[in-house]
Amino acid sequence: MKNTQIISVINQKGGVGKTTTVINLATALSFQNKKILVIDLDPQGNATTGFGLQNNEQSNTIYDVLNGSINFEEAIKATKIDNLKIVSSNVDLSGLEIETASENRRAFLLKDKIENFINSPKNDFSYIFIDCPPSLSLLTVMSLVVAKSLIVPLQAEFFALEGLTQLIKTIERVKIKLNPDLKIRGVLLTMFDKRNNLSAQVDFEARKFLNEKVYQTVIPRNVRLSEAPSHGIPVLIYDKLCAGSKSYFNFAEEFLNQENRMESAA
Ligand SMILES: Nc1ncnc2c1ncn2[C@@H]1O[C@H](COP(=O)(O)OP(=O)(O)O)[C@@H](O)[C@H]1O
Ligand SMILES: [Mg+2]
Repeated sequence: MKNTQIISVINQKGGVGKTTTVINLATALSFQNKKILVIDLDPQGNATTGFGLQNNEQSNTIYDVLNGSINFEEAIKATKIDNLKIVSSNVDLSGLEIETASENRRAFLLKDKIENFINSPKNDFSYIFIDCPPSLSLLTVMSLVVAKSLIVPLQAEFFALEGLTQLIKTIERVKIKLNPDLKIRGVLLTMFDKRNNLSAQVDFEARKFLNEKVYQTVIPRNVRLSEAPSHGIPVLIYDKLCAGSKSYFNFAEEFLNQENRMESAA
C-alpha cells in the first residue's frame, strides 16, 4: 500500500493565500518527480482555474464524488503539468451542506471516498493537497477529518492571530472527536511586506506563540503571484524567477526537509 500523505491547506479567512500555496507547493513538488493530487474543495474553484481547468464544468467534479454519483477515481483529471492531477470543483459544491443535512456520517464523507481510492492499487500519489474554502463549514470539517496534517497560511496583517486562535480551537475539537492523529505541520506567513511594520509584528508574534511551527520561509507580497492565475498556470511556470516563485521553491524545499526529519524521528 502506498504511503500517501493527505495535507489540508486551511484558514477560515479568505484571501490569505491558501489556493496560491496549494498550487505552487504542489507544482514545486511535481517538478521533483513526486506524484501529486490536488483536491479543490472550494465551491469558488480557484485552484481549478489556477491550473487552467474550467470551474463551470458540470461533470466529474468533487461534488459528484461527494453526492455519490461517481467514484473518486473518475473525478481525477490531468493538468498541463506532468505528475500533477486535480479533482476540480464548481459552485454546485456550495449546496452539499444542505443536501447532506440529514446524514449522520457526513463529516466522514470525503474520508470514506478517498480511503477507498487510496487503498486501491490505482493510487500512486505521494501527496494529496486539499484546498479548503474560506470557512469552518462542513467542507472544511470534512477536510480536517481526512487529513493527516495541515498547513495554515497566515496573512501578515492585523487580526491574523485572532483568526488563528479560533482555527486552533476548531482543530482541537476535530482532533478529540473525529481525527485523533491530526497535526498542524506548519504555519506559512504570506503576503509579507518587509517595509510594513505590521508584517514584522505578525511574524514576531506568530513565532512567539507557535515557535517552530512557523516555517522559516516567508512568502512576500509579489504581484506576479496574483497575475499567474488569470493565465491558468502556476507562477512557478509563468515567471519562475520572480520573488514569489523563489519563495515557493524555498518553501517546497523546507517542506521536504521537514518530511525527512519527521521520517527519521518515526
Ligand atoms: N504573496 C502574494 N502576493 C500577492 N498576491 C497574492 C499573494 N498570495 C496570493 N495572492 C493573491 O491574493 C488573492 C488571494 O489569494 P488566494 O491564494 O486565492 O487566497 P485564499 O485561497 O486563501 O482565498 C489572489 O488574487 C492571489 O492571486
Ligand atoms: Mg482559495
